[in-house]
Amino acid sequence: MRPWRDRTGVFETLDYDHVTIDTSHGPMLYMEDITVSFDGFKALNNLTLTIDDGELRCIIGPNGAGKTTMMDVITGKTRPDSGTVFLGQTLDLLKMSETQISRVGIGRKFQKPTVFENLEVRENLALAMKGPRSVWRALVIKLTGDQRDTIDDVLNTIGLTAQSLNLAGGLSHGQKQWLEIGMLLVQQPRLLLVDEPVAGMTHAETERTAELLTQLAGERSVVVIEHDMEFVRSIARTVTVLHEGSVLAEGSMSEVQQNPRVVEVYLGD
Ligand SMILES: Nc1ncnc2c1ncn2[C@@H]1O[C@H](COP(=O)(O)OP(=O)(O)OP(=O)(O)O)[C@@H](O)[C@H]1O
Ligand SMILES: [Mg+2]
Repeated sequence: MRPWRDRTGVFETLDYDHVTIDTSHGPMLYMEDITVSFDGFKALNNLTLTIDDGELRCIIGPNGAGKTTMMDVITGKTRPDSGTVFLGQTLDLLKMSETQISRVGIGRKFQKPTVFENLEVRENLALAMKGPRSVWRALVIKLTGDQRDTIDDVLNTIGLTAQSLNLAGGLSHGQKQWLEIGMLLVQQPRLLLVDEPVAGMTHAETERTAELLTQLAGERSVVVIEHDMEFVRSIARTVTVLHEGSVLAEGSMSEVQQNPRVVEVYLGD
C-alpha cells in the first residue's frame, strides 16, 4: 500500500479504518503492568487486565480507583509511565495516536452526551459514520445504500426508529445517551468503552440500557464502568473491582460481593 499524508500532515503507512484485529489466539484487549503517575501519585499501579472478544465486563470500585484513567490509557488520551497495551495480538496501542486508536475499532462513550442538538437523530448518525467528511458533506452528500442500512440497523438497536427525524435536542436524557451509543455503533467498533452510562437515567431508562449493552456484547466487546450496583448486577457476567489503581478482585458479581476486601473498600455501606 502506498503511504499517504493524513490530515495532520503525518505520513501513514497503515489504513487504520480497515485494520484487522486478530483475536484468534488471544483476548481482545491485553493490558499489563500499567502505571500512570500524576505528580508522584499513582492513579494506576501495575494494572493488569484482559478483556475477551465479545465479552461484557463491568468495572467497579471506589471514587479515584483509576477506572476512568484506565479508559484514558486504552484510548490514548493518557500515556502510561510503563506497561503494555495490545488490541488483539498485533496492535500496540501505546505506539498509536488517539485518532488512530479510534479508527482501528475502539469506541468510547463519555459520561455527558455530546449529540448535535439542532440536527435530526438520523443526521447525527450519518455524521458519525467513518470516513473524512465535513458537517456540510455529511448532510449534503447522499449516503450509499449500505450506509443507510447501517443507520437503520443502529436506529433499531438503540430503539430510536420512531424518533429518527426528530431533532436530537428534543430527546430525553436517556434517549440522548442511546443516540450517542448509536453514533459509536455506526463506526462498527470491536471494543466499546462506556463510562457511567446510567447516571441521571430514570429507572425505566436504566433497564433499557442494561438490555442494550447486553445485546451489544457478543458481536463486540463491551467494558462498562458503573457505580449503580443494581444495574451492574443485572448485566454483569464478570466484574473487575479496581482499588488504588490495581485489580482488587475479579469474578462473578456474587463472588466479588462475598470478597471481604471488596466489602471493606467498596460495598460495605
Ligand atoms: N489529569 C489528572 N491529573 C491529576 N490527577 C488525576 C488526573 N486524572 C485523574 N487523576 C487522579 O487519579 C485518580 C484516579 O482518577 P479516576 O478518574 O481514574 O478515578 P475513577 O475510578 O474513575 O473515579 P470515579 O468513580 O470518581 O469516576 C484520582 O485520584 C484522580 O484525582
Ligand atoms: Mg471515573
